Amino acid sequence: MPLSSLIDSRRVILCVGSGGVGKTTTSAALGLAAARAGKRALCLTIDPARRLAQSLGLEELKADAQVVDPTLFRKAGLEVGGTLTVMMLNTKRTFDEIVERYASTPEARERILHNKLYHYVSTALAGTQEYMAMEKLHEVKSKGAFDLIVLDTPPTANALDFLDAPVRLIDALDSPAMRWFVQAFRSSGKLSLSLLAKSAALAIRGVGRFTGGRFLQDVAEFLTEINDLFGGFRERAREVQASLRAPDVAYVLVTSPSPMAISEALYFSDRLVDLGLKSDAFVVNRVHMPPLFRPTTPEVAEAVSRKGLRLDRASPETLMQALADEARQAELDARHLHVLDEAFAGMDRRPLRVDVKAFTDDVHDIPSLDRVARILVRPRTEDASASAQAAAL
Ligand SMILES: Nc1ncnc2c1ncn2[C@@H]1O[C@H](COP(=O)(O)OP(=O)(O)O)[C@@H](O)[C@H]1O
Ligand SMILES: [Mg+2]
Repeated sequence: MPLSSLIDSRRVILCVGSGGVGKTTTSAALGLAAARAGKRALCLTIDPARRLAQSLGLEELKADAQVVDPTLFRKAGLEVGGTLTVMMLNTKRTFDEIVERYASTPEARERILHNKLYHYVSTALAGTQEYMAMEKLHEVKSKGAFDLIVLDTPPTANALDFLDAPVRLIDALDSPAMRWFVQAFRSSGKLSLSLLAKSAALAIRGVGRFTGGRFLQDVAEFLTEINDLFGGFRERAREVQASLRAPDVAYVLVTSPSPMAISEALYFSDRLVDLGLKSDAFVVNRVHMPPLFRPTTPEVAEAVSRKGLRLDRASPETLMQALADEARQAELDARHLHVLDEAFAGMDRRPLRVDVKAFTDDVHDIPSLDRVARILVRPRTEDASASAQAAAL
């Protein structure tokens, strides 16, 4: 019972992986699988795959939740008992909502929202995107309008940064150096550069890298204002961070069969363990499957002429070559994936593992997404994989 068990028993699935391995595809497919299982599913993403979004009828990538029109599923011949909603994360808007929630007065709120530094912090500061993704996730989960939320985690240098982003960001903004900075500003009413010389350098490192004449003034103003938010803000960050550890949250590590991607996924898995969490499943995407049969050249030539296929510049020999390449690639993938098996050999509670075949085309429409969804939730038996392959030929 591969990932259907997670879909049935969890409220949140976090898809983690390095860029390009198929994280967005896996998240969307899990959302679709959940909707097919009758759930109200939400896919939260910051990095929508454009063509896929278009074929789901999401022409404009809005931050608001958009329900995929059920007639699109019907047209693709799918029975979907639940609903699939897609929400694009908007980091700045989410941050604005926090400011609105915690500012003590409307004036303070306006001053923060219009501060130049706030603009930077809420859009470009390292960690903000990850934090806001978690914030949104926490908010949506608390509202209870969805049975399952699948988060396509933001593409970051380190895919697990989001786990401690909330508290890290708060710590950067609320460090002793920052507090000192604010004090220095407050006591004189304006910024005394000589007073700040040393600690400013420290403080600035915490906030990010800037240039520009009014910079220090902006920093000081911003910090003074944002101080106003800290009580509620810090508490909220702790709450958001704690919610990632709840037992109803599943971690799905997405990887490709390449040795680099596998070792990165294993690294993420180790880091989860360091944090007292565990990976529930590995999705290995774009795996080459061994050809089910290896015909001889004359058999290929006969089939080509029987079916009246036009090969243009190809020949039965080139087809044979392609088949041999496929078989070799499948062998290579299997060898690389052995590392993954070995990493968890002998463990009582091994993470689930599902291999998704490499399709010849991109996964950019509902039927191809559904093919991935079915692989993710189908029982793992030799029969199932053989018949799926045969069907795909
Ligand atoms: N199993 C697959 N077979 C063929 N193409 C795939 C498969 N999985 C993903 N793709 C394609 O690979 C590209 C990258 O996938 P995507 O899910 O956007 O990756 P990520 O979110 O990890 O960067 C997309 O064009 C997608 O359609
Ligand atoms: Mg993506």
